[in-house]
Amino acid sequence: MTIIEKIDSVANGNYNVDLMTDILKDTSEENDKYLFEKSAEICAKTYQDGVFIRGIIEMSNICVKDCDYCGIRKSNTESERYRMEPDEIVALAHGAYNMGYRTLVLQCGEEPYYDDKLADILRRIKEDLDMAITLSVGEKPEALYKEWKEAGADRFLLRIETTNEELFASLHPDGDLQNRIKCLYTLKKLGYEAGTGIMIGLPNQTEESIAKDILFFRELDADMIGMGPFIAHHQTPLKGNPSTTFDYVLKVVALTRLVNPTANIPATTSMGTLKPGGREEALAIGANVIMPNYTPQSFRKHYQLYDNKICVNEGSEDCRGCIDVQAKKAGKKIIIDKGFRKK
Ligand code: 5AD
Ligand code: FES
Repeated sequence: MTIIEKIDSVANGNYNVDLMTDILKDTSEENDKYLFEKSAEICAKTYQDGVFIRGIIEMSNICVKDCDYCGIRKSNTESERYRMEPDEIVALAHGAYNMGYRTLVLQCGEEPYYDDKLADILRRIKEDLDMAITLSVGEKPEALYKEWKEAGADRFLLRIETTNEELFASLHPDGDLQNRIKCLYTLKKLGYEAGTGIMIGLPNQTEESIAKDILFFRELDADMIGMGPFIAHHQTPLKGNPSTTFDYVLKVVALTRLVNPTANIPATTSMGTLKPGGREEALAIGANVIMPNYTPQSFRKHYQLYDNKICVNEGSEDCRGCIDVQAKKAGKKIIIDKGFRKK
């Protein structure tokens, strides 16, 4: 079978790990072009030329975990820590709404501070504003996920990072892959739109491992799949490790689209960091969501998960304006909508 035939086979529903691995290993530009065309076509079938936008607020960079890749891991004593109070978060939600956002993502380091405050924050936002809310606050007990769902949360993002047991364990000194998987299934069960995803190009990550990650997304029936290149942070154990190529990142996005035709797939900030214009390219080949930063400018430089993160010197107005241009460059247009997954 040629690579083109393998791409066709996967696109036609033959979700086979060996075929997918071969496609990822292949480096021919011509084959890539074919893969990208297929992926764009499949994306357009569900989302046409629409791009959903979500404003992201990085509420706090305090974290109790120590992931080897992450710039805000608890052992990084050089990171200046901050935390926003509930009133400030609610006020920001109003600003985001007025700027055209109909989805807000509330993200923070994994810490207990908001555990007893999020339900109230959610209710206050939901009372005033007709917008969807995505939480991205880490692994928590089912009871909390349930409380937040009842308080109005719509979605939850929890990246699996990698489904490879050994790789996961090597990167997360205090992590438990099985618990994270369990959290994702709990979120689905509770009626959340569940988002997950991986980093691409982690040290010792193989093509086969990524192919299996993509199959995991399908098995979970992930509503959102957020991926991006691993980019080393200079104050972490993984400092000095190289990133993968941007082209490989695009291939993973495209293959993910083939196997998960209706999932919401964002063009992520780390893609734009790896390559200027990277998000536009991803939108053009099968991604359909963009998540501009809505964190106040003074905090942005402290939410540095990896080196050279973009948008740190910009404000929320800048990012909102910028993404209109990005969508246009990708031949798409932004839709003012809550942006639920279409099935
Ligand atoms: N490079 C790229 N992405 C990273 N993340 C954390 N650290 C890095 C890094 N060094 C990603 C993880 C996490 C998300 C919030 O940011 O995938 O889930
Ligand atoms: Fe932030 Fe372009 S999205 S400056």
